[in-house]
Amino acid sequence: MSEREASDDPRDPKKVVREGWNRVSTIYRPPGSPADAFDHTNTDYREWLQPFFRMLAPGSEVLDLGCGCGIPEARMLSERFRVTGVDISDVQIARARRTVPEGRFLRADMTRVSFPARSFGGVVCLYSLIHVPLDEQPDLIAKVYRWLGPGGLFLVTTGATAWTGVEEGWLGSNAKMYWSHADAPTYEQWFKERGFRILRRTLVPEGATRHALFLVQAPTASPAGPAPRIGAGQRGLDYFDR
Ligand SMILES: C[S@@+](CC[C@H](N)C(=O)[O-])C[C@H]1O[C@@H](n2cnc3c(N)ncnc32)[C@H](O)[C@@H]1O
Repeated sequence: MSEREASDDPRDPKKVVREGWNRVSTIYRPPGSPADAFDHTNTDYREWLQPFFRMLAPGSEVLDLGCGCGIPEARMLSERFRVTGVDISDVQIARARRTVPEGRFLRADMTRVSFPARSFGGVVCLYSLIHVPLDEQPDLIAKVYRWLGPGGLFLVTTGATAWTGVEEGWLGSNAKMYWSHADAPTYEQWFKERGFRILRRTLVPEGATRHALFLVQAPTASPAGPAPRIGAGQRGLDYFDR
């Protein structure tokens, strides 16, 4: 466990996030629910993951950072791939081990895990990077780039607008929650600076606000190789590019 996680400081963002998710796990995603508390449905997730199913070979290694309770994305990905999930919350990881028994799950801070270079064909980080302090995010994006093999895919939810803060009584519970994110153009710049190619950037509504969803790709072994077939116009999504 990292020094940061072991902190007794109640304002420590990692502690707030870990304790908060331990408390709200089943409020956010009740067992058996087809949607989360913000109405992102399992159908939405399946559509977002389609490029993984189209472009990665069966049996590829896929990393799920901030995997939550394993539902929906780790379970969907495990239909075709070998999934490693990482989550800072004890309760979320315990649920993930039950819901996706074939997966490998690590209870850890995603900024503290390490894997050999080129370990994964794909990495997903859905609604979880936004809980990592902003100053740690560029390094994490750089690590993901190193962990991906040639042409590897990274699907990640980011902020659409910049905000860092804590909310009390989150989801009607007695939990606090911490968020930290830049705006979508900043993330796009970070991905490009790192060497990723942007395949998709989408705004996903959430009540009165919204997040950005990026699908980015590490360079392929052959730059002249065929362009990936990432379709536009998927259901219910507000494209701001393509
Ligand atoms: C909104 S949930 C999303 C879960 C799942 N990815 C989904 O889309 O349904 C955010 C998850 O990120 C995890 N998380 C937040 N910060 C983390 C960190 N630094 N390291 C690992 N997991 C983290 C939380 O514990 C929580 O389970």
